[in-house]
Amino acid sequence: MARTIQIFDTTLRDGEQAPGCSMSLQEKIQVAQQLEKLNVDVIEAGFPAASPGDLASVREISKIVKSAAVAGLARALPKDIDAVWEAVRYSPSPRIHTFIATSPIHMEHKLKMQPDAVVEQAVSAVEYARKLCSDVEFSAEDASRSDPDFLCRIFSAVLAAGAKVINIPDTVGYAIPAEFGALVKYVIEHTAGIEKAIVSVHCHNDLGLAVANSLAAVEAGASQIECTINGIGERAGNAALEEIVMALATRHSIFNALTRIDTTQLYKSSRLVSAVTGAKVQINKAIVGENAFAHEAGIHQHGVLANRQTYEIMTPESVGIPKNSMVLGKHSGKHAFEARLHELGYSLRPAEIELVFAKFKELADRKKTVSDRDIEALVRGASAVIPEKFKLASFVVNSGTQITATATIRLAIQGNGTIEEVAAGDGPVDAAYKAIDSIVKRKLELADYRLSSVTSGEDAQGEAMVKVRCEGKTWNGIGVSTDVLEASIKAYLAAVNAMEWELASFQQGAEQ
Ligand code: KIV
Ligand code: ZN
Repeated sequence: MARTIQIFDTTLRDGEQAPGCSMSLQEKIQVAQQLEKLNVDVIEAGFPAASPGDLASVREISKIVKSAAVAGLARALPKDIDAVWEAVRYSPSPRIHTFIATSPIHMEHKLKMQPDAVVEQAVSAVEYARKLCSDVEFSAEDASRSDPDFLCRIFSAVLAAGAKVINIPDTVGYAIPAEFGALVKYVIEHTAGIEKAIVSVHCHNDLGLAVANSLAAVEAGASQIECTINGIGERAGNAALEEIVMALATRHSIFNALTRIDTTQLYKSSRLVSAVTGAKVQINKAIVGENAFAHEAGIHQHGVLANRQTYEIMTPESVGIPKNSMVLGKHSGKHAFEARLHELGYSLRPAEIELVFAKFKELADRKKTVSDRDIEALVRGASAVIPEKFKLASFVVNSGTQITATATIRLAIQGNGTIEEVAAGDGPVDAAYKAIDSIVKRKLELADYRLSSVTSGEDAQGEAMVKVRCEGKTWNGIGVSTDVLEASIKAYLAAVNAMEWELASFQQGAEQ
């Protein structure tokens, strides 16, 4: 009988830790809800001791998510473990995930501790966590560069102390598949009490081997894999969830192991994580990249037309890549639009459908046909949850090679009429953003700005992605329009509105 491999998703913790991948509370909730649809077994929602904001987001997610376990990460310290418990205890299946480093280099230079003291601290941490929560996972950080016998010793000790899951991370992405598989096998054969435990692995991608190492671990007997959507994570990232899941499904006769993942949600999960983090998916990325199912060479196209299996080892539909069946345009009604949204895998609330449909109608007036990519961009750029405190009423921008760029921006302020400001800047976008800053009256820093085209063609929409920083925190915004300046302004306002909404929600929470 096939074994079931648990999928532990750490997009919201290890993934979010990566430079440029931070998410707002609202975005984390959106991702957690999508991970639930994807049917992951465990969602690692954050590192609560890292900041009050981290703790608050793990707590919100543990209140919302019902079908997956919700874990939080803690160093092997009571104060970290308390913070995790404070955040995850609302979940129907909470998990405390605690860790300490076990490699000679980490113990000597980072922890400055002797191996015996490391074992003692790990055991105390697991005992402490078990008093709060029945599901405790222990990770031996930098396991792949640790002495295998020391690993077996510490794992035996934490299992005796009540850990349910032991995790073997390749923290620095140093292992190669045969070696890592052998390490997992050795741990399974030499750790006392491991028969009842879940054996987990957590691989980083520094040598591009995170997925291969995770699969070698499955062959060696691991039953949980830690991974992230699109492989985002520290440095070169973590093992990519979609690649692991599809490798297990496609090569079932080799692994005889399955996951509970609804593979038809993979593409949508990938698009969502890319949209909220602004981390683009490379076009040739396995499973979810734009070219993953594109056949360009004539000989390939001929083969695929005769029989898709000549060049396709899995179907685009199996990973949820939508079939482009119906072309929508300005005469398309709400019914057809809603049907298309549904086919694309979106289940939006009525207010969100209204909002996106209005934007679709505006776009259809400017563009002959509206593609699936356009619709996805409209959905990404529209949030019915975040109120539009500042809404673009009009703009005029002047720029050129011989003049200083200036922008006149008029914003409608929720319930408070309109305000207009003029500013000069280093180019039209900078001028527009400076004018908005003086209306918003906050000290904002532009942390990132990217502009891309949603589709090809003269009437293609531009999609702007903006990150703004204020008081050490960042917020993302997306704006789409056939006019790139308008897209840029809308993206900036979306980030500002997300910030205003989150700050106001925190203030309300603090006052209650
Ligand atoms: O890479 C790593 O070792 C980790 C652990 C904390 C699990 O992220
Ligand atoms: Zn990691």
